Amino acid sequence: MSLSSAYKIIRHEHDVVVVGAGGAGLRACLGLAEAGLRTACVTKVFPTRSHTVAAQGGMSAALGNMGEDDWRWHMYDTVKGSDWLGDQEAIAFMCREAPSAVIELEHYGVPFSRTADGNIYQRAFGGMTTHFGQGQAQRTCAAADRTGHAILHTLYQQSLRQKVEFFIEYFALDLIIEDGQCRGVVAWCLETGSIHVFSANLVVLATGGYGRAYFSATSAHTCTGDGNAMVLRAGLALQDMEFVQFHPTGIYGSGCLITEGARGEGGFLTNASGERFMERYAPNARDLASRDVVSRSMTMEIRAGRGLGAEADHIHLHLEHLGPEVLAERLPGISETAKVFAGVDVTREPIPVLPTVHYNMGGIPANIHGECLGFSENDPTSVVPGLMAIGEAACVSVHGANRLGSNSLLDLIVFGRAAAKRAEATIEAGGAIPSVTQDSVDISLARFDRLRHARGSESTARIRIGMQKAMQSNCAVFRNHDILTEGCEKIDTLVNSFQEVGLSDRSMIWNTDLVETLELENLLSQARVSVESALARKESRGAHAREDFPDRDDENWMKHSLSRLVEGCVTLQYRPVTVSTGDYEVDSIPPKARVY
Ligand code: FUM
Repeated sequence: MSLSSAYKIIRHEHDVVVVGAGGAGLRACLGLAEAGLRTACVTKVFPTRSHTVAAQGGMSAALGNMGEDDWRWHMYDTVKGSDWLGDQEAIAFMCREAPSAVIELEHYGVPFSRTADGNIYQRAFGGMTTHFGQGQAQRTCAAADRTGHAILHTLYQQSLRQKVEFFIEYFALDLIIEDGQCRGVVAWCLETGSIHVFSANLVVLATGGYGRAYFSATSAHTCTGDGNAMVLRAGLALQDMEFVQFHPTGIYGSGCLITEGARGEGGFLTNASGERFMERYAPNARDLASRDVVSRSMTMEIRAGRGLGAEADHIHLHLEHLGPEVLAERLPGISETAKVFAGVDVTREPIPVLPTVHYNMGGIPANIHGECLGFSENDPTSVVPGLMAIGEAACVSVHGANRLGSNSLLDLIVFGRAAAKRAEATIEAGGAIPSVTQDSVDISLARFDRLRHARGSESTARIRIGMQKAMQSNCAVFRNHDILTEGCEKIDTLVNSFQEVGLSDRSMIWNTDLVETLELENLLSQARVSVESALARKESRGAHAREDFPDRDDENWMKHSLSRLVEGCVTLQYRPVTVSTGDYEVDSIPPKARVY
């Protein structure tokens, strides 16, 4: 009996299938449905539980509501923040689109906080400046400290209104790529146990990052980079996977995020002597230096024995001086989180914090329209027909080696919208849908079936904790040749032991044992390419701090790394950074980006 007959398979046809229902996925769904395209959204969690819901501090845009601003200053900050690895044409596009993207969200109904005169409230965030680094910008548009929550709920409601067809609690297994064109995706419905084949003219991956490859992460447990792993399995490349951002203020012990907005509102860090040590490392920006700088400084304080606690292993974040009113109005969410996860009353005591994995700058290489780049030898800008990637899953690359806080929500919305516009321009609503052969479905089912019936002696949980600890210690804030080499060896050993994994639950309905094993396989492939890319990059840039190569080396390393898995081995290639701003003639734009 063939595998296909062993499983109940249901086929669907849509103009577009979006995988993932976070901010990027839902913004794309909304635009696609508004354009009249038959749009399916396949998501492993209920849409409003997607990780965007946890985004706190806000979304950057040079609106100029709280002081002068200009999208070109935003662009400058983003290029500098990226440590010159960001593609400048893409950054120009994102920063120029930002004000209209925020206003559009406001019109869709996002309940932003307000200034006294009724404009959208904007707070300071790290690395966001005015006049090309001269002053501190207030550029981050906020809905208290629950901005992601506000955006996600609004986009979900608007998507329902536009009749997007949701397939909720469906786990995406594999892309279907035939003759070089993406034709659809295979998914498993957790509720009914059926297998679904979605055929479409376009598949949009909006599957988020892979923070859960690490032991301590602000990311939800669902952040397993399933789209990235599907791309690797399809033989395509991921880009800049060595760049993993550590957020300076994860709660010590639990890793829960304390928004950078807390420092934007005036919070500051101290060491065991009560010293505001950021004044030594970044005399101008201090606690609002970019995240890579603050995370490294905190780590250096701890290494120098100036950490707090019995093991001198964390730092204090002070908010007490802000007063109960500001805390209640601007930072209610983190006040509660600090109480629950650290037992701290922020009106009286500092929060114990530690740099914690927060964001993946690397991902699926894509252009500013969301189209995935295939890098054919003759044409480095060639796209993979039928495949897009947006949001944290994608690497456009607007964040380069280090993302500025609040540029992520912006990225989700700008590129979700851009992908929908591109689809509207290139896909005929109700047009013919490419066929998907049974052979392609069978390849995906074979992998699924093998894992479902795996009877080895290794447990998913044991391999996962090994991977998370290895990544945490061997692909961390500071790296060097020996530590990374050991990391590669540890991950390779775990990849091998995954061949011996065994499951105890073979059912098809809500089989969380199988879900976690599929997610682990996805994480392992991304951990592999991350640590190998990090070992290969012999310089320090942004979030990639090599102690054996402490300087940035633009001559040899101002290039993106492209990692593939070929016959089980990691292969690396490189492509240059785009330093031209293309059509975005930076000097021809009026200085005030305000759109009211
Ligand atoms: O600190 C924060 O609120 C996180 C924001 C971001 O990562 O963009």
